[in-house]
Amino acid sequence: MTAQRPLALVTGGSAGIGYALARQAAQHGHDVIITGAGPRVHESADRLADATGVTVTPVQSDLRTADGVDQVWAAVTSTGQPLAIAMLNAGVSLGGAAFIDTDLDDELNEINLNVISQVRLAKPIARDMAARRTGRILFTSSLSATTPTPYETVYGPTRAFVYSFAQSLRQELLDTGVTVTALLPGATATEFHERAGMGGTRFGDNSWKNDPELVARKGFAGLMAGRDHVIGGDRATWRAAIRQRILPERIKAAQFAKSSKPA
Ligand SMILES: NC(=O)c1ccc[n+]([C@@H]2O[C@H](COP(=O)([O-])OP(=O)(O)OC[C@H]3O[C@@H](n4cnc5c(N)ncnc54)[C@H](OP(=O)(O)O)[C@@H]3O)[C@@H](O)[C@H]2O)c1
Repeated sequence: MTAQRPLALVTGGSAGIGYALARQAAQHGHDVIITGAGPRVHESADRLADATGVTVTPVQSDLRTADGVDQVWAAVTSTGQPLAIAMLNAGVSLGGAAFIDTDLDDELNEINLNVISQVRLAKPIARDMAARRTGRILFTSSLSATTPTPYETVYGPTRAFVYSFAQSLRQELLDTGVTVTALLPGATATEFHERAGMGGTRFGDNSWKNDPELVARKGFAGLMAGRDHVIGGDRATWRAAIRQRILPERIKAAQFAKSSKPA
């Protein structure tokens, strides 16, 4: 009889950083559940399974809703396998315009996905792992957690929430054997900024950004090492992270606007 592989969950695993994180988990011997809002999650699961030889289960669900979150947790429990790793990564931004010009419902939906769904899903995951006294949780936050983000006005605050939430949860779980790590990627070459309506800004140009494979490799290594947070990116990203610890918020806001303000 072959030994059962450990199980990893990656939300937003159908594309971008999440797909690269899922590949890391698979290459390190995990069966993987990946989620996405649209139908391509099925094709992404087939591609990852073919490339790595592990079992990859797709879940198509809209995490902006409580039902969508329940669907993901039900998929985890229905495997009968204990969850070794949870990577709560799905997220979107809304940019390309100033707050006074954007649609409020779009922003509330952004908060539903980037903030509410993380808290909803973290609850059963943390309880389950704490009861078993083992497990690793990764939250994808962003370097945007450490700066104001004008012209993505709501996005940065959603990532700051997740960063702080992860650090609080980490402290509470210290004695349980469960680790919590926040991944803070710098700008990364995925569909993210195009999807956020930022095609006409400096962030819309993928040529200068981090490779999602590099971000995921660093994130996964930090997760397995039980680190509190990981800067996801190259040396320039790391230098930016250091600068952002020191600079006043108003200076960072002005600098960020140079890359995010639509022409
Ligand atoms: N790219 C960057 O520059 C950057 C930098 C820092 C942090 N991040 C963070 O990294 C994470 C992943 O971003 P990415 O760059 O990989 O973006 P991406 O390539 O656009 O992928 C986003 C993923 O989230 C899923 N998703 C979108 N809306 C959803 C919803 N309503 N319900 C469930 N799943 C949904 C997408 O599924 P579909 O298959 O349905 O599209 C996709 O799998 C986000 O949390 C983001 O804040 C990104």
